[in-house]
Amino acid sequence: MSSEEYSFKAFSEHAFYHKVNEALVDRAHLKRGWTVVDVACGSGAITELILEKIRGAREAMVIGVDLSATALREAAEKVAGARDAVVEFVQSRAEEMSASIKRAVDAVVFCNGIHYIEDKKALLEEVHRTLKPGGVFAFNTAFFEGALPPETLKYYRRWMMKALRKLKKQYNLRPEHSKVESRKQLTADEYRALLQSKGFEIKIHEIYPGEVTKQGWIDLSRFSDFIAGALPGIPIETASEVLVESLRETFDELELTVWPRNWLTVVAARP
Ligand SMILES: C[S@@+](CC[C@H](N)C(=O)[O-])C[C@H]1O[C@@H](n2cnc3c(N)ncnc32)[C@H](O)[C@@H]1O
Repeated sequence: MSSEEYSFKAFSEHAFYHKVNEALVDRAHLKRGWTVVDVACGSGAITELILEKIRGAREAMVIGVDLSATALREAAEKVAGARDAVVEFVQSRAEEMSASIKRAVDAVVFCNGIHYIEDKKALLEEVHRTLKPGGVFAFNTAFFEGALPPETLKYYRRWMMKALRKLKKQYNLRPEHSKVESRKQLTADEYRALLQSKGFEIKIHEIYPGEVTKQGWIDLSRFSDFIAGALPGIPIETASEVLVESLRETFDELELTVWPRNWLTVVAARP
């Protein structure tokens, strides 16, 4: 299987996903003609949302940054027809992006990826270096401590129990214990304190209620980073199959069509 088949693209095209990200981009109040960095741009869903806000004035520019070449290719395809704005893509780690961007920008948008960053203090320093004074830093994540409404904890438990049982029974496999970084999650208050410790002024700090459909979870179970976080150390094809099968069974048993999920939604200004 090619890496494209384990990409984020299918998940990123869901209506529920568009809604939570649009909520963040609306709250960031991006202006026509701005230069905006789309950090961890993935398949370009957010690049497109940013373009809608900034296009139409002469200097309008979006710079998509991601460490994955596959993601950058998909993002470039998605916005290939964009007019009235310059679009650039840069392959870089978020933690080192200022070296490639080489100018101070109006806004940095980081959707659904900050939970991957191990050294979040260093990230904020890099965001500070990338932004103009007063520039906007906007991010959201559904992987923070508090993302799961309490009534949904049992859904995930049931899903994971099934997956572990299938792995053992059908493949005699067990995931590794080591948790990947995306699973060591901060609370909303820890994110607030971190921003304040680096002098950022918090404009919006909100828990946005989203919901993820059954097909959304199936598509996420076919995304390499999610699979590695859920079942570390298991070969990707096996892990993905087991996650999808167990998910389908869990949804059917619970007779639900969506699971509610909270998106931490934050907008701050650089000092
Ligand atoms: C879940 S996707 C989110 C994509 C997009 N921002 C969105 O909201 O639809 C996370 C992306 O983060 C990228 N990524 C993970 N760690 C990164 C890092 N340290 N620096 C840059 N990109 C990173 C992955 O390659 C992936 O494309």
